[in-house]
Amino acid sequence: MNLLAIETSCDETAIALVSVKDKKGATSFNILGSEVSSQIELHREYGGVFPNLAKREHIKNLPIVLEKVIKKSKIKKSEIDAIAVTTGPGLEPALWTGITFAKELNKEYNIPIIPVNHMEGHIFSIFPKENKNTFTVKKDKKMLPILSLLVSGGHTELILIKDWNKYKKIGQTRDDAVGEAFDKVARMLGLPYPGGPEISKLAGIKRENTTKNKLLNFSRSGTSSSLVPARNADRITTTGGREPEELVDPLKQILFPRPMIHSKDYDFSFSGLKTAVLYLIRDLKTKDPNILDKEEVKQEIAKEFEDAAIEVLVHKTIKAIKQYEVKNLIVGGGVSANKHLQDEMKKNIKQNKLKVKIHFPNRELTGDNALMITIAGYFQYKNNKFVKSHKSLKLKARGNLSL
Ligand code: KG4
Ligand code: ZN
Repeated sequence: MNLLAIETSCDETAIALVSVKDKKGATSFNILGSEVSSQIELHREYGGVFPNLAKREHIKNLPIVLEKVIKKSKIKKSEIDAIAVTTGPGLEPALWTGITFAKELNKEYNIPIIPVNHMEGHIFSIFPKENKNTFTVKKDKKMLPILSLLVSGGHTELILIKDWNKYKKIGQTRDDAVGEAFDKVARMLGLPYPGGPEISKLAGIKRENTTKNKLLNFSRSGTSSSLVPARNADRITTTGGREPEELVDPLKQILFPRPMIHSKDYDFSFSGLKTAVLYLIRDLKTKDPNILDKEEVKQEIAKEFEDAAIEVLVHKTIKAIKQYEVKNLIVGGGVSANKHLQDEMKKNIKQNKLKVKIHFPNRELTGDNALMITIAGYFQYKNNKFVKSHKSLKLKARGNLSL
């Protein structure tokens, strides 16, 4: 069948068209076209996503993106067999634009509509392979149990999958989502939206420089003991001139909290961490109002924040893998693009000698896209979870829809 998917839950207008076939217990997807039109540049001015602006842009972009996909696919609109559309979670004004667009297509071509949960889409985002037009999804029982860590601008969740199509949320954030914390800390540092990639870049520079300095110290002294840096040698000095021992430098004492890391449940909290960064910056600014003009200071704060946030995510994920004897770990959502998260997750799985197989999406599928909605949509369709008429009451935006 030819399946069209529409995704407008946040600030990306995305449409994908695939041809799907079931064969020998697996499902093969042939990508006929997949486009994402990002509104990031527009929202950057506001430092975050502005729902009514997102709605206006989706309405403008949807017909353009559809034409692009159709042109690429070389099939006619009348050859589309079903439409999958994200109905939640997300920004309701944005979700409604996709739903209304799907309803229009239903009226014109009389094709069924499949409501799709955006988070289920992120779970399936690991299946398409880089630079390949076809991919296969096999819902193999041997892969179970699966654990999914979903990390984005709106969500931080641990989902346990003991059976395909059955999701159990075992933990979630009690306040800010991790991506939201990255965005807010970036804003405090004067970095543009979205802040995740910016923080990650600065933190990476800091880590690289620290490694270089350690190696330099090592080669200078020629003894292995200098691999341990001299006291505070890898910390930035902000007052200059005086000997490091004499400095009263708050940066040297940075140790951000790891909220809820030892709590018995699998919940998260990132608002306290964000506030800790805010207080540190406030203290630093009382000593030097222009402190954030110094690149090294921003790099250090970005690294310490990233270390703290990622440590909590990894710690709780590893704990859940052990408790539920998980065989496969799927990490999805915008924050799954974070290199430190990827490195630390792999490192900790190895250190703990866990036999779990880890899956991240392709770089371009970490964020919101419609290809992931085609996959989640197809399986909903197979389970008869679709509606035939645009009048169905099931077709409504559900901002807080849960898995
Ligand atoms: O899944 P997504 O594209 O949209 C939502 O459904 O929220 O996720 C966007 C979030 C933003 O908060 C963004 O800052 C974060 O993902 N993000 C990152 C990175 N790339 C994107 N966070 C940390 N490190 C990254 N490399
Ligand atoms: Zn998302």
